[in-house]
Order: sequence, then C-alpha cells, then structure tokens
Amino acid sequence: MTSQTPADGAGRPAAKDPWDLPDVSGLTVGVLGGTGDQGRGLAYRLAVAGHTVVIGSRSADRATAAADEIGHGVLGRDNAGCARESDVVIVAVPWEGHAPTLAGLREELAGKLVVDCVNPLGFDRKGAYPLVPDEGSAAEQAAALLPDSRVTAAFHHLSAVLLQDPSVERIETDVMVLGESRADCAVVQALAARIPGMRGIFAGRLRNAHQVESLVANLIAVNRRYTTHAGIRLTGTGL
Ligand SMILES: NC(=O)c1ccc[n+]([C@@H]2O[C@H](COP(=O)([O-])OP(=O)(O)OC[C@H]3O[C@@H](n4cnc5c(N)ncnc54)[C@H](OP(=O)(O)O)[C@@H]3O)[C@@H](O)[C@H]2O)c1
Repeated sequence: MTSQTPADGAGRPAAKDPWDLPDVSGLTVGVLGGTGDQGRGLAYRLAVAGHTVVIGSRSADRATAAADEIGHGVLGRDNAGCARESDVVIVAVPWEGHAPTLAGLREELAGKLVVDCVNPLGFDRKGAYPLVPDEGSAAEQAAALLPDSRVTAAFHHLSAVLLQDPSVERIETDVMVLGESRADCAVVQALAARIPGMRGIFAGRLRNAHQVESLVANLIAVNRRYTTHAGIRLTGTGL
C-alpha cells in the first residue's frame, strides 16, 4: 500500500501523486454474474494478470462449468460463495437482477470492496437509452443496499467481446473509477491497470455515477455506426 504523504512547509499534507497506486497483486477478485460475457471477460483478464479469480452464479454448477471454460485457474462458486471468498467483488449481473442479487448478499459482502459495473439501460427500436434508478444510479443503489460494504463503480465502458478475445493482447482504454473513498478507488484503479493497455482514473463520487453508467448508451451507438468496440480515453495535462 502507499506511504504517508509528507507535509509541506505550512504543515499541510502535500497533494498525493494520483498515479501512486497500491500493490493489488495479492487480492482475490470475485465476479457476481461471472458466467455472463462481461464477467467472463473480466475474470479471464484478471486471472491472466495473476489474480485468484472466483466467478459467481445463481447456480454453483453453472459457475464451475464457466470457470472451467475460462481456465487460467478461475474458480466457480454460487454468488454467496464468490462473495465470501473474495477481497474485491465485481458486480456483473444485468440491471434487472441488481437489487435482488445485492440485497441477498449483504452479509457475505460486509467489509468487502464492491465494484459495480452495471449500466441500467433500456433498448427500443431507436437503440439504447439510460434508465434512471430511484437511487440515482446502479452504484448508489448498491451503496444503499450494502451499508456494510465499500462500494465503488468502474469497468462500465469495456467491451466484453474484447475482454474475452485471447487474440487481443492490449485493450487501450481508460476505466473511470468512482467512489466515496480515495483509498478504495485507488485499489480499483490499480486493478484496472493490471490489464495491459488499461488505466484506472479517479472520476468522482458515486453521486456522479449515473452519467458514467449512461455513457454506455452512446458507446453502443458508436459501435453500431462504426462496427467497432468503442472504449474511452481521457486526455489532459497530467493524464
Ligand atoms: N456486456 C458488456 O459488454 C458489458 C460491458 C460493461 C458493463 N456491462 C454490465 O455488466 C453486467 C453484465 O453484463 P453481461 O452482458 O455479462 O450480462 P448477462 O450475460 O446477461 O448476465 C450476466 C450473468 O448474470 C446472471 N443473471 C442473469 N439474470 C439475472 C438475474 N435476474 N438476477 C441475477 N443474476 C442474473 C447470469 O448468470 P447465472 O445464470 O449463472 O446466475 C448471467 O450469466 C450488466 O449490468 C452490464 O450493464 C456489460
């Protein structure tokens, strides 16, 4: 983990280097809904990066079968077992299963760092559009349902197709990481950086998660127009 930041001459703590991220290589990562495309892709990439990865499912048998298909030592458990055995737990279930899944795992997720990557979207004949959860965003719903967990939001803008394709060696994209605790966000940023080509960028508190989740509707439009798997890059001095 990072060292304490020295104080400046006036006794104020100097601003911490935002690229000074903790060593997360020893963390076990769980993926709820890990039998789906996004979960499989993240599990594959993080396992290749050297993490112990546990994918979760509503069915332990489905989880085991999917884990065997992914390989690289990925383990399969039911969602509760996945949550219990992991240090960091990525939520990768469809929006419609988000609230019931998390409400049922409050105990197992207590004390854990939860990373929500769920994009509440609707689809009609005009394409994808954002839904507006009562809580403001999927991430804020997670925080409301999991008061004993450390909830962050990240990995919204990744292509599950690219994540799962072993011929793709680098995924050149930024991962916007949101949360109430800078230390927790730094862990998630460091986790993103374990995947070649990716950077984790702190992008604000959970109250700003809605527009990050919603941006996926725009990326889907880009994908359709240009037949691609669009990601995002943030630019600017210091980035
Ligand atoms: N696909 C992408 O490119 C992508 C990119 C970024 C973010 N995301 C987000 O990641 C999440 C998962 O996306 P996905 O494409 O992987 O979804 P998915 O394949 O439709 O679902 C993932 C897994 O969730 C479980 N599940 C399905 N319905 C459920 C329900 N009602 N309650 C609880 N679990 C349920 C299923 O596993 P079991 O049947 O084994 O339990 C399924 O394999 C979504 O919220 C999406 O917004 C997706």
